[in-house]
Amino acid sequence: MSDLTRRQFMTYLGVGTAALIGTATGVTRIAKAAGVEMPTARTSKGSGRVPFRPIAPSDQDDLVLPKGFEYDVIAAWGDDIGNGEKFGYNCDLTVYFPIEKSSEHGLLWVNHEYTGNGKIFLYPPDTPEKEKHRIEQYNLGGSIIEIKKENGQWRLVKNSRYARRVTANTMIDLTGPARGDAAVGGVVEVEGTFANCSGGRTLWDTVLSCEENFQEDAKRWGRNETHYGWVVEVDVFDPKSKPKKHTALGRFSHENAAMTLSKDGRLVVYMGDDAKDEHFYKFVSEGRFDPAKGKENSRLLERGTLYVANLEKGKWLPLDLEKSPALKSKFRTQGEVLVNAREAAKLLGATPLDRPEDVEVHPIDKSVYLALTNNDRHGNYYGQILRFVEEDPASEHFTFEVFAVGGPQSGFACPDNLLFDSKGNLWVFCDMSSDKLNKEGVYKPFKNNGGFFIPTNGPHKGEAFQFASGPVQCEMTGPWWTPDEKTLFVAVQHPGEETTDPANPTSRWPRGDIPRPAVVAIRGF
Ligand code: FEO
Ligand code: CA
Ligand code: CA
Ligand code: CA
Repeated sequence: MSDLTRRQFMTYLGVGTAALIGTATGVTRIAKAAGVEMPTARTSKGSGRVPFRPIAPSDQDDLVLPKGFEYDVIAAWGDDIGNGEKFGYNCDLTVYFPIEKSSEHGLLWVNHEYTGNGKIFLYPPDTPEKEKHRIEQYNLGGSIIEIKKENGQWRLVKNSRYARRVTANTMIDLTGPARGDAAVGGVVEVEGTFANCSGGRTLWDTVLSCEENFQEDAKRWGRNETHYGWVVEVDVFDPKSKPKKHTALGRFSHENAAMTLSKDGRLVVYMGDDAKDEHFYKFVSEGRFDPAKGKENSRLLERGTLYVANLEKGKWLPLDLEKSPALKSKFRTQGEVLVNAREAAKLLGATPLDRPEDVEVHPIDKSVYLALTNNDRHGNYYGQILRFVEEDPASEHFTFEVFAVGGPQSGFACPDNLLFDSKGNLWVFCDMSSDKLNKEGVYKPFKNNGGFFIPTNGPHKGEAFQFASGPVQCEMTGPWWTPDEKTLFVAVQHPGEETTDPANPTSRWPRGDIPRPAVVAIRGF
């Protein structure tokens, strides 16, 4: 029986039959995922081999991992990180920066995305409004922490000279076409960054942190909305450096930024706009990357072309006043186009997508994987992962296919964060809502949000194997490897987010008291 036929049998014939078919076709072990039985790896060689024994979906209030894997909590919300600073709330993106090329000692950038229902733990309800805003603003942005593996365990280095918080109050320079443009109120710097979701790492060792759902907090705090929704660059090794918002990369609900190079050395940055019916973008720099220039390469993010994808035509449409004159009917300056990237994209015919979240470039064949989380407007509750193929990353044309589809038949739902290992296997972390859809609706069989391993080639290409299950009502975000791929960092975001009484939280992870968003290091690879 072919792989496909067997999978279809498993999907439609149920658990008992699947187990029988598994045995009959010589599959050695059966792992249960979301009520469907799936075969674990056969002993195939090379990439695509499943390097762990998959776990079953779980509703435990813990980070559950396969046998042989362990985790260390490196930093949790409120922890002292050094220099008098504290670790922020709801962590997301993690990016590891080795110190002296070490895979056991480095700096970790961590995004702090939003406070949301977590406000219940941040301050008592009778706190004056101004003080509430101050606390919220400090808890967002990012943390830079120094971390080290000692005696087999990861820990935070106290009193690090690198320890730093970037918050919703840190002054940040604008670069690129919208700097000083009337569309941002004529300013060249703005106050703070928040809604920092995912992001990426530049080729010159700085972090790109993406501002996602900034709209609500910007309104509540009386901020100018055009100052948010950008990609922010931070030099983690220089505590005095001023972060930059690169307006050439457009303004929308940025999920992440995956950087690669075209064949002729131009920078290419792929980006998703995580909202229902929003779009998939890429930026191509005008200039070429020069490794000898180090951090000066940051200037490349100031000039170039921002494109948006039209899937019907397989075409990248330039959001550029000169290259797309149709934009002139609505916008006078390139700054204005970039500030209103969503509107400009729609004017040119960009394809609406089902919440384009994380994008990653395959390390071997350079194809581009995009997670579409879900879109209840179209009955797409489970999401899927698309794979784009271009002749060159700077090309204006592409083809695409559906690489994997969420649902009970595949064992995962709502793919959000993606991460490749160097063999080209995809690690996928899911973001199902933890509201009533999880308790009694479509997401019930999947239990807590989990992490999955999906080979991109070999006999298990496109099949999901569950690697992790997070604490109650959390989402595991921001996965990142150490260079030796022996440690996987993960940010556990919003555990216990459905809590209504702080004295009776729905999760007590990780320290047995109240739920605390925290960054963990997973060992055992
Ligand atoms: Fe912050 Fe799109 O997840
Ligand atoms: Ca996300
Ligand atoms: Ca990612
Ligand atoms: Ca998400």
